[in-house]
Amino acid sequence: MKYFIVTYGCQMNVHESEKIAGILENLGYTACDKREDADIIVFNTCAIREGAEDRVFGNVGNLKRLKKKNKNLIIAVLGCMTQKEQTAQKLMNTFPFVDIVLGTFNLSRLGFFIEAVKKGRQLEILEEGDIDEMLPYKRTSGENAWVNIMQGCNNFCTYCIVPYVKGREKSRQESNILQEIKELIAEGKYKKITLLGQNVNSYGKDLNPQVSFATLLHDICKLDGDFTLSFMTSHPKDLTDDVIDAIASEDKIEKFIHLPAQSGNNRILKLMNRKYTREKYLEIIDKIREKIPNCRITSDFIVGFPTETEEEFEDTYELVKRVRYDSIFAFMYSPREGTIASKMEGQIPEEIKHKRVNKLLALEKKLQKEDNKR
Ligand code: SAH
Ligand code: SF4
Ligand code: F3S
Repeated sequence: MKYFIVTYGCQMNVHESEKIAGILENLGYTACDKREDADIIVFNTCAIREGAEDRVFGNVGNLKRLKKKNKNLIIAVLGCMTQKEQTAQKLMNTFPFVDIVLGTFNLSRLGFFIEAVKKGRQLEILEEGDIDEMLPYKRTSGENAWVNIMQGCNNFCTYCIVPYVKGREKSRQESNILQEIKELIAEGKYKKITLLGQNVNSYGKDLNPQVSFATLLHDICKLDGDFTLSFMTSHPKDLTDDVIDAIASEDKIEKFIHLPAQSGNNRILKLMNRKYTREKYLEIIDKIREKIPNCRITSDFIVGFPTETEEEFEDTYELVKRVRYDSIFAFMYSPREGTIASKMEGQIPEEIKHKRVNKLLALEKKLQKEDNKR
């Protein structure tokens, strides 16, 4: 029996798919390279922007003919998109050939649902769930091993769907993380460990006793072995000096930080609920540059947030110019149902968003060209 997994979204989802693969292999399935050969096809979806969801609808729709050819084929849709009740229902209604739709909190029961499909289509969305330490991983990222250190997000940036589909922040026990990494090092094939969380800087605040992210970093670096350590994503509001010092002082930690700014304008940052100002952000950047020379810095930006004026967009443009990132991702604001920003007045027309995103990306290209020359 063979499985094929299609993954959308962030690194955390890529890692989640390694968990899905682990569960399927435990059930006796093996991986295959083509959808046509599969007995089960799993979509691990993302809800961050409308485009991501549209692609899922398109690609699931395309499976109709496969299902016609192979009546026993099981099609499962999981992940952030299906955590939303309405979207899950829409998937079920639009595609009668989809067998299983699960939210993000019941992955550990995938095996049960595959068995249950014999009796009919399955849909389940739970409200919250704990991190399951027992689930096996089938690692697929070569020399890099992803290690989840927390799930969920408490920040509720007003544009973002993640807190709604991934629940509140929950940190893993430090001992469990250290044990996992020890085992990875012992396997001998991983040269790089990448810690994952939506906001790694707030790691451990919910543990009793609390553990700081900097402590976790130092403790991992104390482990014997030849590996480099990196992490994502850092939220500027929680990036403390002790974390910057850890990156600077620990040889094992990669000199790299992804520090999404989202906007360079204070009014927009406030509306986004990011809890820092342009000045504070630049202060952090200067501190990083001073303490960690040659540190690579990357960022994410959203253009066309509701009510963003041309001048306010220029503030973002100037920030990108000033920081000279190693690279940036620029996204057009996409209203997500249920978020605060989606209900704000002053939504920006698509063509203006297009114009702004192109302008920002052109700048990024130009700066990169100059830097490469240098
Ligand atoms: N936890 C990370 C980001 C996760 S989502 C952080 O706080 O930085 C990855 C990126 O998607 C975000 O940095 C943001 O730039 C973008 N994004 C999130 N919601 C979006 C939306 N509604 N429209 C457009 N881009 C969005
Ligand atoms: Fe979304 Fe903000 Fe949480 Fe990042 S920090 S996942 S952008 S709510
Ligand atoms: Fe990641 Fe998309 Fe979910 S960015 S957390 S897969 S909504």
